[in-house]
Amino acid sequence: MRKNIVAGNWKMNNDLKATKTLVKQIKKSLKKTKLKNTRVIIAPTFTNLPSAVKRCKKSKIEVAAQNMHQATSGAFTGEISAEMLKSVGVKTVILGHSERRAYFGETDALLAEKVNAALAHKLEVIFCFGEELADRKANKEEAVVESQIKNALFHLEADAFKKIVLAYEPVWAIGTGETASPEQAQDMHAFIRKTLADKYGNGVADSVSILYGGSVKPANASEIFGKPDVDGGLIGGAALKAEDFHAIITAF
Ligand code: 13P
Repeated sequence: MRKNIVAGNWKMNNDLKATKTLVKQIKKSLKKTKLKNTRVIIAPTFTNLPSAVKRCKKSKIEVAAQNMHQATSGAFTGEISAEMLKSVGVKTVILGHSERRAYFGETDALLAEKVNAALAHKLEVIFCFGEELADRKANKEEAVVESQIKNALFHLEADAFKKIVLAYEPVWAIGTGETASPEQAQDMHAFIRKTLADKYGNGVADSVSILYGGSVKPANASEIFGKPDVDGGLIGGAALKAEDFHAIITAF
């Protein structure tokens, strides 16, 4: 059975002190919570990963990075490699976030390289993609999502999908307060699963967790997570408050 996942993408928020505080609050909130088939992941900034990993040991929380460089090492000033992430105990990396695509020019081709590098170093990948508002207005959302997935992932062998989580994040719903309706999320997630099934078969398609991201809040989480092809969420703003994050985790 595929896992439910609630992952908090902290983006460029929280210094070291705030990271320690928020980790402590989330740990406390989960102490008496029974997690049924659900993984909880947080993704703090690079500088705070070692502290978060240390504090989340022997807890229900896993720690992910928000990005990484595709090369193993070398003259890439300011970048962080898969090996460096592993060396501080990180096991998962978010790749392809729309903010990376929009502000840092990350293309499908580059993301394919990053995915390869992450998998080669046995990191799990949370792979993000999603259409822009103009795409949806032009009824092109499925074509856009299909090409993002195909271009960055469909060179992989079926086995690789054991280490891949998909995160559908429509750009128009990120940080805008505007959420995809549960039906819109379900329709797209079903389409994504069918796209996977057409290429790799039902076994792979049914085993991959597909998360929804974009203005998920305590008030809308259970309706969205209640849809059959939605296996959880990638949460931005609401992951920065322990109370809200906990309410989303327990929304299944
Ligand atoms: P918000 O939840 O703030 O809309 O952000 C979603 C997101 O980008 C998660 O990666």
